[in-house]
Amino acid sequence: MQGTTKISTNVENNLDSEIEQRVTALIGRMTLSEKIGQLNQLDASWGHPPDYLGPRIRDGGVGSILNTADPAIVAELQRIAIEESRLGIPLLTGRDVIHGFQTVMPIPLGQAASWHPALVQRASRASSAEASRAGINWTFAPMIDVTRDPRWGRVAESPGEDPYLAGEMAKALVRGVQGESLDDPESLAACAKHFAGYGAVEAGRDYAATNVPPNEMRNVHLRAFRAAVDAGAATVMTAFTDIDGVPATANEHLLSDVLRDEWGFDGMVVSDWDSVRQLEIHGFTDSEATSALAAFKAGVDMEMVGESYSRHLEAAIDGDATLLQRLDNAVANVLRLKFRMGLFDGRAAARGQTEWTAQAITEVSRELARASVVMLRNEKNTLPLEVDRLKSVAVLGPLADAPYQQLGTWIFDGVVDRSVTPLTALQDALKGSAEVRYDQVFETSRSRNLVNLSSAVNLATQSDVAIVFLGEEAILSGEAHCRADIRLPGAQEALVKALAACGTPLVGVILAGRPLALGAVAECFDALLYAWHPGSQAGPALADLLLGQASPSGKLPISFPVMSGQVPVYYSQKNTGKPATDDTIAHIDAIDSYAPQTSIGMTSYHLDAGFRPLYPFGFGLSYGTFVYAPTRLSASTMTGNDVLRVSTTVKNEGLRSGDEVVQLYLRDVAASLTRPVKELIGFQRVQLAPGESTDVVFEVAAKDLGFYGPRGRWVCEPGEFHIAIGGDSRVELSERFTYIEN
Ligand code: NOJ
Repeated sequence: MQGTTKISTNVENNLDSEIEQRVTALIGRMTLSEKIGQLNQLDASWGHPPDYLGPRIRDGGVGSILNTADPAIVAELQRIAIEESRLGIPLLTGRDVIHGFQTVMPIPLGQAASWHPALVQRASRASSAEASRAGINWTFAPMIDVTRDPRWGRVAESPGEDPYLAGEMAKALVRGVQGESLDDPESLAACAKHFAGYGAVEAGRDYAATNVPPNEMRNVHLRAFRAAVDAGAATVMTAFTDIDGVPATANEHLLSDVLRDEWGFDGMVVSDWDSVRQLEIHGFTDSEATSALAAFKAGVDMEMVGESYSRHLEAAIDGDATLLQRLDNAVANVLRLKFRMGLFDGRAAARGQTEWTAQAITEVSRELARASVVMLRNEKNTLPLEVDRLKSVAVLGPLADAPYQQLGTWIFDGVVDRSVTPLTALQDALKGSAEVRYDQVFETSRSRNLVNLSSAVNLATQSDVAIVFLGEEAILSGEAHCRADIRLPGAQEALVKALAACGTPLVGVILAGRPLALGAVAECFDALLYAWHPGSQAGPALADLLLGQASPSGKLPISFPVMSGQVPVYYSQKNTGKPATDDTIAHIDAIDSYAPQTSIGMTSYHLDAGFRPLYPFGFGLSYGTFVYAPTRLSASTMTGNDVLRVSTTVKNEGLRSGDEVVQLYLRDVAASLTRPVKELIGFQRVQLAPGESTDVVFEVAAKDLGFYGPRGRWVCEPGEFHIAIGGDSRVELSERFTYIEN
């Protein structure tokens, strides 16, 4: 085990003195074992709590439970804590309310694709309200691990590849979960996770090691966490992973130097599931006792299951004044949260009027599902379908009528009966006007049985349009569900090719927990909607879009590779010393077998995949046609006190109205650490009727130009910047300005 020299402390920047007095007074009455008990989170085992749980709570040995959302069980365990334990300290009742509770919202990656923080905030508020009724008061969300690897199953839970977009989602989700105030009975405590760098797991294989150097950690992985902490996230969860030799759960630098000392976090840090004991498996400690001590000293306040704190901390502390101080600190972090949440003051009973009726929750779920869909192709305006002209529609594929699969990963409490599938929604919407003919074709997305292929092709041939619902079942993404080959699984590519050959307009709708590598089939579709796993309201939301009740407005929060081996491919890459350009690339099929090694330009690309993704970050089509005027700058130089106004005019030259997400990209041309070729630094959603135009203005301050420099400090270095506004990350950074230090 590496020796830790520093004990985590809190920065007292934002403390409420009345609460602090109550915390101190309570700690003064606690025994050592009651203090350690507050740091212990136990598994309530899915509605079958073990017999020992009640007595342990009564004895003051448990500060929190997780994994039950049965209201009667939660209430009873909470009652024991409040009425029967010596000090009556209430429990934190944790649950993974990740994208909805009983009513399921789109997976987080889909939510990020909405680029609509206000709507994401509303949806998470709705889910918190729903979960709070079951007695849950703490959710393990938001998950804000930036990742550039769609092989990783947890990409489904992530906000995608970009630190800025992830930060905007982090703020929205924390505000939605926690509401105006933590003691509102519909608020839950949020948990920003997994601190930090988990999205960098090697080969996109869950739990694998990460090697994240400080520059990458600061500028890519930590930024969303900083945003979450600044938005008031009550708790932070450590990652399972080893970061360049120091596992996150014993990472003193991250937990103590960065989170506490630098960011002033005064909330609570929880480990991930048994990740304290796993320090020994990592090879960082040599026993359960040393694992407990390492995590405790580094700054983990509460241990999620595992109980190494309960078993070993008392002996390890053994009168050591520094460790006793650390213990009081950790306990204070737990109690402060409980006081802030009003748990000592009868919060649970104070439930009054709510705006979150079942209908309101369903509506926001439908609205967000609609906003999360990204239209990737729409040749010859295949979409929206013209209902008046349709007589027959073939609805095909394994995900057209799969009420469970459309919900996605993390649906512990999702009610499958609330799912409305695309098939049902299309049948409802087209009742009396067009015949809907359905064929599931494959039993699952992984099926290789081609027996139904010809009947599906016949159905398509005889119909005015074929809509094929493809993708992945929910179980193919999420924690520990990674894939190395991220094409459409099973024989779905064969189905697409067969349908494309039959001549009927082909609309693809893909439901999946990750970006799939669609290079082999994308061009087979006349139109293609990427729906992620949209949740309970998948059907109505997709019918709204397919039939033109609403226009697609999602934009990709992550680049789509041409093929699996191109991963990671992301827009904010470094330029390298030998960047590829369209002039220099050669294709593997064209290259002369005897060509000299240097003949094709020696640049950074793949012979078989090129250097561009299939679909870039920020990309997404609409039924409107948005045309951007050249970007305008209010000045060609700026100093630290200035605000640079960067603007454009966006016009909808199409025949239908729609929302456009207008994006601002920047490049710092030369810096003391090389900077990406492009970085998103702002976006705005505008709604435009046909023929309508609007001016979109971004105000850029010096802080928006900065980055974490060589010493880990935020710096804004003088020099030349390139900038432009556009509809996706391909925009050419046409404008230049110079930043001059005052
Ligand atoms: C492990 C996961 O990594 C974490 O995200 C989750 O919140 C906990 N399990 C609790 O279920």
